[in-house]
Formats: sequence, C-alpha cells, structure tokens
Amino acid sequence: MATQISTAAGTDRHVGSPRSRVDGPAKVTGLAKYAGEFTAADLVHGYVVGSTIARGTITGIDCAAAEAVPGVLKVLTHANRPDVSGKADSYRDMVGPPGTPLRPLYDANILFSGQPVALVLAEDFETARYAASLVKVTYAAETPETDIDALVPTAYDPPTKRDGIKPPPEPWGDADAAFGKAPIRVERQYRMANEHHNPMEPHASTVIVEADGTYTAYDKIQGVANSQQYLTGAFGLKPEQVRVMNPYLGGGFGAGLRPQYQLFLAMLAAKDLGRSVRVVLTREQMWSFTYRPEAVQTVSLGASPDGALQALRHDAVQGTSRYEDYQENIVNWSGTLYKCDNVKLTYRLAKLDTATPGDMRAPGAVSGLFAIESAMDELAVETGKDPIELRLINYTDSDPVEGKPYGSKALKSCFEQGAARFGWAKRDPKPRSMREGRELVGWGMASGIWEALMMPSSARAVLSADGKLEIGNSTGDIGTGTYTILTQIGADALGLPMEDVTTKLGDTNLAEAPVAGGSWTAASSGTAVMKACRNIAAQVFVLARQMENSPLANVDFERVVFTGGRIEVAGDPSRGVSIKDAMRAGGFETIEVTEKAGPDSDFAKQFECYTHQAVFVEVKVDEDLGQVRVTRVVSAIAAGKILNPKTARSQIIGATVMGIGSALHEESMLDHRLGRFMNRNLGEYHVPANADIHDLDVIFVDEEDKANPLGVKGVGEIGIVGTAAAIANAVFHATGKRVRDLPITIDKLL
Ligand code: MOS
Repeated sequence: MATQISTAAGTDRHVGSPRSRVDGPAKVTGLAKYAGEFTAADLVHGYVVGSTIARGTITGIDCAAAEAVPGVLKVLTHANRPDVSGKADSYRDMVGPPGTPLRPLYDANILFSGQPVALVLAEDFETARYAASLVKVTYAAETPETDIDALVPTAYDPPTKRDGIKPPPEPWGDADAAFGKAPIRVERQYRMANEHHNPMEPHASTVIVEADGTYTAYDKIQGVANSQQYLTGAFGLKPEQVRVMNPYLGGGFGAGLRPQYQLFLAMLAAKDLGRSVRVVLTREQMWSFTYRPEAVQTVSLGASPDGALQALRHDAVQGTSRYEDYQENIVNWSGTLYKCDNVKLTYRLAKLDTATPGDMRAPGAVSGLFAIESAMDELAVETGKDPIELRLINYTDSDPVEGKPYGSKALKSCFEQGAARFGWAKRDPKPRSMREGRELVGWGMASGIWEALMMPSSARAVLSADGKLEIGNSTGDIGTGTYTILTQIGADALGLPMEDVTTKLGDTNLAEAPVAGGSWTAASSGTAVMKACRNIAAQVFVLARQMENSPLANVDFERVVFTGGRIEVAGDPSRGVSIKDAMRAGGFETIEVTEKAGPDSDFAKQFECYTHQAVFVEVKVDEDLGQVRVTRVVSAIAAGKILNPKTARSQIIGATVMGIGSALHEESMLDHRLGRFMNRNLGEYHVPANADIHDLDVIFVDEEDKANPLGVKGVGEIGIVGTAAAIANAVFHATGKRVRDLPITIDKLL
C-alpha cells in the first residue's frame, strides 16, 4: 500500500500545516477574473428571456419591438436559431442524471418556469436587458404540478439509476414485523424545503471567437472538462476547437457541476454572429435551474427499552423534473450509521414541472441525516437515554450496508472531543430546563457522515532549471483551497518553498481532471500531483547522483530527503546537491511529467471509506418572539489527514453556516398555481448574514486512513451534514417543541 508523502519525500512539511490561501491576494485585489469578466473587442451581450409558464407550448414570439431598439443585433429563439443537434445524447455532461437533458431554444415545449425562450443580443448589457422586456411571448399553457404532496402516492422507483449514486440496498431482516413488535417506537415524517445554492457569483459564460476561428469559453463551472464535453457534443465541435477556462469560481456548492444554459446560449450566439458573446444571469434567473429538491421522509425506529435498535425504516420521496430522473442518496446513510438487524430503506421520485434539481453541498446526506438524526433524538427522549449514549449503543465499526469494515472511523473520538469542548456533561436532559433571561437555552447534537471519494485524475508537473515548479490540472478550485493544498503537496515533494511553486487549474489545456465535487478533489488531484512530483524527484535524484564527485553517488533514493531546494542524505545535511545544480549538470532546462491517479481497488474491496462528524449546538430562543439564535456550535470532524488546518477549518465553518441556513432560513417557495418559485431574491430567500452567526468551533480528530497515499478523505461537505438536525434537536431541548419541517421559522414556534 502507498506510503505517506512526508516520509519518503521532502521534509519541509507544508502539508499538515496551516497555510494562507495562495490565491488570496489575487482575490482581494481584484486580479482574479471570473467567467463574466473576460472580454473581447467585439463582445456582444446576451440577455435571457425566461418562460412565464411552467408547462405548455410557445404559440408565438414577437421580437419586432426588441429588434427595433438601437444597439440590438438579433433575438434568437427556437424559431430562428441556427441548426443544433436534436439528439438528447449530444447534450450529456459528465455528471447529469438519466433522462433527456434540457436543449435550450430547441423547440416550443415548455418544461419549467424560467426556461430560456429567447436570447436578446445587443452591443451592451443594459440595451439587451431593456429589449428583453419588449419580447412578447404567447403560450398555450397547461396546468403545472409542482406540489410534491400531491405526487407522493404515485412516486416511482427510477428505472435508470444515476451514475455514482448508490440506490437503496435490499432490505435485511424483517423491519415491518420487528417494528410492530418493538417495545419503543418512533415513527415520524420529516421534510425540508427546496433550497437554491445562491453562490455569490451568478452564472455567466463568455465565449471568445479567436482569430483562427477556434473558441475560448470562460464558463462558471466546477470543472472545465465537463463544459468542453458538453459544447463538443451539442455543437459538433472537436475538443481542439473549444478551450474552456475557469480559473476562479465565486462559490459553487454544486450549482456549477453541470454546464448551465447560459453556456449553450453564449456559444450558440457566438457561432451565429461570428462574434464573442457573454451571457450573465441575474440573481432572479439563478432560480431557473438546479436546486436541492424537497424530500418527504418517514423514519420508523423500533427499539428495546435500553435503546438498542430492533427495526429501522427510512423512506424518502423526492422531487425531480419531468425530463430527467435526478437522484440522491438520502436513505442509505441510516443503514450505514447504525447497527440494526431489521432494516428497510426506500427511495422514490416524483415528477414535478420544475427545472431538474441538482447536487447541493452534501446532496442527499443533508436531507436524510436531518430525518434520521432528528428521529434518533426523539428515540433518546423516548428511552430516556442521553443522545450520545444512544448513538454509542447502536454504534457499528463495519458498514452494515456493504458488510465491510471502515478503513477508519473516529466518530467515537468526535463524540468525546466534541462533548468535552462543548461542555455537554452539564446538560440537563429535561426540555425547557435551561434559561437565560427571557431566552430559553437548548443544547442538541447529531452525527454526520459523508462518503470519502476519489476519482481518476491526472496532473502535470514541470520543474525548471531555476528551481521553480509548476503543477496543475483542469479541475476547479471552487473556493475550497485547492490551489493552496496542491501547492503545499508540490512544495513538500521537492523540498521547495511554496513561493517557488505555481499551481494552475481550470483550463482544458491542462492535464485532464474531473469536476470539483463530492469532496473528492484533495484525494484525487492531490494524489495525482504528488505522483507527478515524486516522479520528477526520482529523475532529479538520478541527475544528482551522476554528477562528478557527487556526494550522493552511492546513496539510494529511499535514503535522501528533498529540503530547502536541495537533495540531501537523510540525517546528514552536509552530503547534498542543490536541485538547480543537478538540473544544470544533467543539461536539463525542464523536467516534465504527467501522472494519473485513481482509487486503490484493493483497498476498496476490503474497506468502506467515510468521513464523520459529531456536531453540538446551543440555541437561544426568545419565548415571546419565537426568534432562534444559534449561539454556539462545536463541530468535531474525522476526515483522515488534514492537509491544511486553516483552509480545512474554513470549509467546516462555511458548511456550518450553510447548515444554519438550512435549519433556520433557507426556503425556495413555490406558487403551485403558477409552478414558479416566488422568492427569487436575497431579500426574500434568506441566507445567514453575519448577525446570524456567533461562536463556531471546529475540532479535527486524528484519523489514519490508507485509502490513498495522502491519507486524505475530504472536508468540503462533512461540516454541513448533521448541523441542521443538531439545531432542530437543540430547539426541542430549549422549547419542548419538535419541528420536523425545515426551516424552523418563527411561526412554527409560536
Ligand atoms: Mo458538490 S454538491 O459535489 O459541488
């Protein structure tokens, strides 16, 4: 099995140390450019006209008034668009669910409110936007269905499973019979609202027509390879005809996993006009695609009086669109987290007249864990057990779903360390027992779990004779710190200061890598970068050894360390050669290596790999006003090796804030008569603001894992998974009111 990077390679040990973001200065000074900021001399601006109905057909589009506005070049619609592929398969991207992907401006068919029906092209954005208001579209409207409750009885098992999403396992034992016989029973329905990602940067694409007739597309995407695949498919282009770049992302959270329609429209217009085109969506238009879909869930827990689970059922019905079968793993977590002999997990879909939902930070786990971790809290109350004790009674060291041990699982340590830091031992279990002035105080906790994934990924590294290293691949840094951790890994592998390492990402001309998602980027790109740099290290070592009178002449590679720009015998710094001298002596200007890395299949056969969380929350609830404040959160995380405690902590802090949003604020409300999200702005869709956030504390619990050479499991999503349940449990402890539908708004407490 693989070695840890720090032993065989450099000793400078940036890996594991808190390091500030290498992309920080570019971001705070405005040098970092985003997809909607790239430009060209011939730039045209596109503005999208969205459908005002959710279901039906377009009967006519009158563009005359819009086209008469000075500065307007053209209005593209399904009726006058250039020829594009009609085959659904041409529009597939790397992460889309089964079904027929949206084909923008393809025909008169309307699938959801806000669907693009026209693109107004003008010399400037304001003109395009004004002219868009003059486009008159008439429809034959049909009655939309966007109410999941109406569809629960007819929910269906998706016939085609989504790649990478585990369907529910076959039931084991007899959960129905065991539940019927259990002395203690909890059966409840839970639900959470539709949520939209709302990254700070709205979706945007700028397609530049280059002098040689090729295209460069700057696209808001979490991995440019996906946009390139999409564009080559939909427009019949060869990969060398379209380079896609996205060096920086102003927040992704999953909203940038799939190419969105503004990319298609910008390319369509660029091809049609022969000019560069930029399409930026407005904040309101950000509600016309991908969202975390509402799920209606029922959890049934049967237990003995001492709290041991005898039956566990978890059923979820989740919304998808009429044209694609979007799927998440909502219910499997319940079977993975707890030991129980009788388990039944079921998941079905309901077809709504909305855009296809999409992955949003820890998709499935956020919804599913809210349900199971609320239900476990209710069982703790029923059995009179402390919530941690109940979880320990039902603890498992192997995955009951797959029947394999975990490669590592330090959840017990998360309970211990989190509880100690929080002061959990002082908790009076009685609801409404703690008070501070006019506020009720509540303490709640929950467990969290997320998959530790790795995807096949490549990386290129180039070492120059001046001792500088350049590394990179096409994945995106979605704000998580990928530039920084890859720089640390490269620097350590060759014993260089971080200043001498440049990391490049987000460009299809770089080594191919998957989208940044699923918390897999550190493991995937990190391992590929490490392999490429170790390969270079071995080559430089050979050059060093071949030098005249080399102090390393009879030394093996395993016995040297790379440090301070030198290759030295371990423990004897006097015997060494500088990297620069070795390169010059060998006559090399550069050494360039591209390496591929992928998951270790031997490891995967033996072990299951997950990250874990124990999250503790204090809330204060104003009894008269029903206002809830989350005054304290301690999130204890077990996620393998932490490459950079500073950027990793930021991931957990950010995810905790999103968890607070899920629990208390975020809710995209549908008007079912119109089939339309109503609160499409940040005034009416609440995300937590500074005043909502108080004391957030993060603990990383040590964990050794051998799933990959870095021992890393990923930290982007684990911080959100249990947070909303812990808040709801704390609200119950404060008030005695159990709220089972998120968000916990004031009206539900009064
Ligand atoms: Mo994440 S929802 O895989 O960007």
